[in-house]
Amino acid sequence: MSHPTETSDLYSRAGKTAQVLRDAVDTLPQVAMILGSGLGALADELVDPVAIDYAEIPGFPVSQVQGHAGQLVFGRLEDVDVVVMQGRAHYYEGWSMREVTFPVRVFSLLDIDYLLVTNSAGGADPDFVPGDLMIISDHLNFTGASPLRGPNEEDFGPRFPDMTDPYDGELRAMIRSVATSLDVDIKEGVYAGMAGPTYETPAEVAMVRTVGGDAVGMSTVPEVIVANHCGMKVAGISCITNMAAGLSAQKLSHDEVKETADLVRETFTGVIRRFIAALGRSF
Ligand code: HPA
Repeated sequence: MSHPTETSDLYSRAGKTAQVLRDAVDTLPQVAMILGSGLGALADELVDPVAIDYAEIPGFPVSQVQGHAGQLVFGRLEDVDVVVMQGRAHYYEGWSMREVTFPVRVFSLLDIDYLLVTNSAGGADPDFVPGDLMIISDHLNFTGASPLRGPNEEDFGPRFPDMTDPYDGELRAMIRSVATSLDVDIKEGVYAGMAGPTYETPAEVAMVRTVGGDAVGMSTVPEVIVANHCGMKVAGISCITNMAAGLSAQKLSHDEVKETADLVRETFTGVIRRFIAALGRSF
């Protein structure tokens, strides 16, 4: 039987890219972080940074979205070796799910066991307010697509990956505990991943709410599926930048998303720093 060739060389392509990155840095990271819209500033705080434009990394998709810088930064945060994606490609830009998630494949081949994903999202839970941070407890894949569609790459993981604990329970508890220590009233909930690029209609938000979603966004789900496929432990934090459509009289705009993300930057950065420090102590 002939298979689509789209996936057949994924393992070797990701392996070659991993080698390029290994050659570019002295120390390999233990944690990878993906920073969402307006949340990329943390990458500028790394100690001894080595930044590489996505355009220079074989196979990395280059995002065109405003507010997403598009570089990979290696360095130390709270004395932990990390690699940060400052900006990410999105499915709605036209990249395939496999392209969107290629960086995560590379991280797994760099033997990175932990992935922290962050994003901006609309609040579907009426108890949320813009500026809230939400620990992602689980997700709903409403994109209608999967990055694992097609022949399975057994070298990465099984055909039918378990998704019982897609956002690791211990890491979630760790985030909650560091947030409490900082007096941050962090929320927790289910992230509904949409294909975009429109914001949702009020009816779509009502549907998400009915089926258990607390926040809506246009990223994260593909990367988390692939990280789980590769056996990585995942933690996720959403920044609730706006109330989702129908929950406030205000119209939605990317400017509002970036403005709110900017306002919570310090809180967000504080939580992430302490989380990384706690994670570092647990190794
Ligand atoms: N919907 C989808 N994606 C988003 C939103 C939203 O309301 N806010 C920020 N990203």
